[in-house]
Amino acid sequence: MNVHDSDKVANLLLHAGWQEAPEDEADLLLINTCSIREKAENKLYSDLGALRDWKRAVAGRTLGVGGCVAQQEGDRVLRRFRHLDFVFGTHNLRFVPEMADAALQGERATRVAESRSLERFDLPGPHPEARRRTPGRAFVTVMEGCDMFCSFCIVPTTRGREISRPAEAILAEASDLAAQGVREVTLLGQTVNAYGRHDRRRGRTAEAGTMAFGELLRRLAATPGIERIRYTSPHPTFFDDELVRAHAELPALCPHVHLPLQSGSDRILERMRRRYTAADYLGWVERLRQARPDLVFTTDLIVGHPGETEADFLATLALVEQVGFVDAFSFKYSPRPGTAAAEDPETVPGPVAQERLERLQDLQRGLTLAHHRSRVGQTTEVLLEGPSRVGGRQWRGKDPYHRLVNLDLERNERCEGEVVPVRVVEATPHSLIGEMEQHGAGAERPPAS
Ligand code: 5AD
Ligand code: SF4
Repeated sequence: MNVHDSDKVANLLLHAGWQEAPEDEADLLLINTCSIREKAENKLYSDLGALRDWKRAVAGRTLGVGGCVAQQEGDRVLRRFRHLDFVFGTHNLRFVPEMADAALQGERATRVAESRSLERFDLPGPHPEARRRTPGRAFVTVMEGCDMFCSFCIVPTTRGREISRPAEAILAEASDLAAQGVREVTLLGQTVNAYGRHDRRRGRTAEAGTMAFGELLRRLAATPGIERIRYTSPHPTFFDDELVRAHAELPALCPHVHLPLQSGSDRILERMRRRYTAADYLGWVERLRQARPDLVFTTDLIVGHPGETEADFLATLALVEQVGFVDAFSFKYSPRPGTAAAEDPETVPGPVAQERLERLQDLQRGLTLAHHRSRVGQTTEVLLEGPSRVGGRQWRGKDPYHRLVNLDLERNERCEGEVVPVRVVEATPHSLIGEMEQHGAGAERPPAS
């Protein structure tokens, strides 16, 4: 979501007449921040320290900070760093152009007011000069904010209350993107499948223009030009039969779900206030696999949450193995200001958490490689993203399972955003190696603009 926010700000600035420039030539430099763990927050402070010289080198240079640390710290960042010109919160992206102008006039300001309205989603469409990170692929926000208050998580503070956009606005945005050559859309929300839940609870679904998430996917799949649909991140509590059916019935819905688990121990899940048990989680995994047998799962995991014993951790390892995740983001618990877990005295010592993280990552590495090996010999379709980062290969892209595929195709024969038929010929720990399939020309289409 932060990546998408950065693109929204860049687009607003282009519309306001700014142009993209390299760092040493830029008049305005913005840092979008993350505060999910302490390390991410500290990165801002070291970056800001390093930017003192950048600011001093040329008179009139302007420096702004946005995102979750800005939301969390507000004015404190401005007071602590005298060379900083302005601070904008997660609900204040649309004010960035005017804040940048005011900064040029010498004004230092902070805007972090939380908004409870949909106004912040009224943003201009892509500027002709807006560079798409990956042609052919785009994010669309469907809901924002989080009311779950998991024990460890700062997001409800930094992103504010849950709010869902009207389906019509989402579908119109997807149609516009498709008209510009986008064929893969990723629906975004902190708990994306909670889409519209507050409207339903308050009996104002019609008025709000929202609908069940599964129905939204169905409508999106019917949008001409949209060939691939993903969503991130769902919360296990908000799966329902309609969403499961969508996976069975919509070929455009990719056979990959990123479903954060956090822990495999019921005791810790409760302490985390996750509102599901390991059995609930497995139940949804099974139903989804019945609906779409080739579906793969990835997840997020935390080790060392307060109160986590060796037995709890072993339950996590067991569940990871049982589900057979094809990949996982795993983290050492990091206390965040104002969260419930930060007050919990039963902390896990750093070295213990570190050792658990390594054991978990060892297990996951094996599962990932096993999945990659199982794919060798299969054919798949790869949406080309750009030059490969693996020596000798020319292109990289993603298959429908969201696996990274490196390909040996002439650079100049293909374009970013194109979908090509591929045969998997080799498995590595981090990616698949593929070859262009000679007889599957059906998947080719003229390049996206
Ligand atoms: N410490 C460690 N990991 C965290 N996450 C969220 N908050 C914390 C924290 N305080 C992880 C969760 C979440 C992912 C985005 O970041 O696993 O799903
Ligand atoms: Fe954080 Fe996700 Fe829990 Fe919301 S549901 S509080 S974003 S971990």
